[in-house]
Amino acid sequence: MNRSNRTATVAAMLVAVTALALWIPPGVAQAQAPADAQKAVDAAYAKYKTLNEGKNADYIPALAKVDPNLFGIALVTSDGKVYSAGDLKTEVSIQSISKVFTMAQVIQEQGLDAIEKRIGVDATGARFNSIIAVEAVKVVQGTGAPEMNPLVNPGAISATSMVKGASADEVWKKIIGFHNDAAGRSLNVLQDVYKSESDSNQRNQAIGALMLAYGYIKSNWQQAVDLYTKQCSIGVNAKDLATMAATLAASGKNPVSGKQVLDAAKVPGVLAVMATAGLYDDSGKWLYHTGLPAKSGVGGGIIAVSPGKFGIAVVSPPLDDAGNSIKAQRAITEISNALGGNPYAGKK
Ligand code: DON
Repeated sequence: MNRSNRTATVAAMLVAVTALALWIPPGVAQAQAPADAQKAVDAAYAKYKTLNEGKNADYIPALAKVDPNLFGIALVTSDGKVYSAGDLKTEVSIQSISKVFTMAQVIQEQGLDAIEKRIGVDATGARFNSIIAVEAVKVVQGTGAPEMNPLVNPGAISATSMVKGASADEVWKKIIGFHNDAAGRSLNVLQDVYKSESDSNQRNQAIGALMLAYGYIKSNWQQAVDLYTKQCSIGVNAKDLATMAATLAASGKNPVSGKQVLDAAKVPGVLAVMATAGLYDDSGKWLYHTGLPAKSGVGGGIIAVSPGKFGIAVVSPPLDDAGNSIKAQRAITEISNALGGNPYAGKK
C-alpha cells in the first residue's frame, strides 16, 4: 500500500469510527432527550387542558358518569423511560384498546395466519359496531378471504372466541394475564362498567350470534360476548396504557419490566392491523397526520406506537363522532410530531 492509499484508508477508518460514535439508535436517542420529551408532553397538556369539545360515550350508561375533565398523558420510551403530565392515577375502562391485546394473544398462541384466515385484516370502512359490515362481508367468509378485522366489534368478539381454554375462567385468566404482562402490573375489572355494559350490550349479542351463524365463531357465542365485555371493562390509567403501547414499540418486550410479552416477529402484524383499523373509519385520516399505528377506546383512551422509539397514551373521555377521544388525538399528534415519531418521515 503506498503512502497516499494508506492516508486514504486511515481517513476512511476515522470517518467510520466517528460516524459509529455519533450514531445513536432511535430508541436510545429518544431516551437521551428527556428535556425534549417532557417539554413536548407538558406543552400538549397545557394546550389542550381546557379544550371543551366532544362528549363521553353514553350508550354504555356507566361511561356517561366518568369525569369529562379527566386528562392524563404518558409516554414510555422503548428503553423504559417515562414522561407524563396530568392525571396518571384515575382508571378508565380500556374498552376497544383491549382488542389489540386479545388479538396479539391469539397471534402469539396460534400464529399470524390464524387471525388473517378466520377474521381478516382489512378495513371495513364502517363504524366499530356495524352490523351492515358483517352482512356485507359474509359472502366472502369461507373462501379464505374474510374482509373483517379484529379491531371492530364483530372481529374482536370472534378473536376473543379464539382464545383457547377448557372453561370461561381459563380463557379469562389468559386474557387478563396478557394485559397484565403488557401493562407490567395486575389490572382489575371495573365492576360497575362490566355490569353496565352487560346490561346494555344487546347489539353485541346480536353481532355474536351473527358471527356464529357465518362461521367466524365456532361455538358458544354467549361466552365470547361475555368475555369480550369483561376485557373491555379492565381498568387502566394513562401510564398503564403507555406501557402497553411501549411493549409494542419495543418489539414485544415490556421495556419497564423487561418481560418478553409477544414474539418480536409477531409485532409488525399487530401494528399493521392497528394502522389499518385502529381508529375505525377515521384510521386513514389519523395515519395521514401521524403515521402511527394506534387504537382508541370509548372509555376515552388512545394508545399509539412509534416503533423502536416510544409508546404514548392519553386518557380523556369526550369523544368525536367516530368514537375517538378528541384531546387524545390532538395531544398525541402534537407530541409525536414534535419528537419525530412518524415512521414514514424517515430518520430525523
Ligand atoms: O363493544 C363496545 O361497544 C365497547 N365495549 C367497545 C367499543 C369501543 O371502545 C370503540 N372504540 N372506540
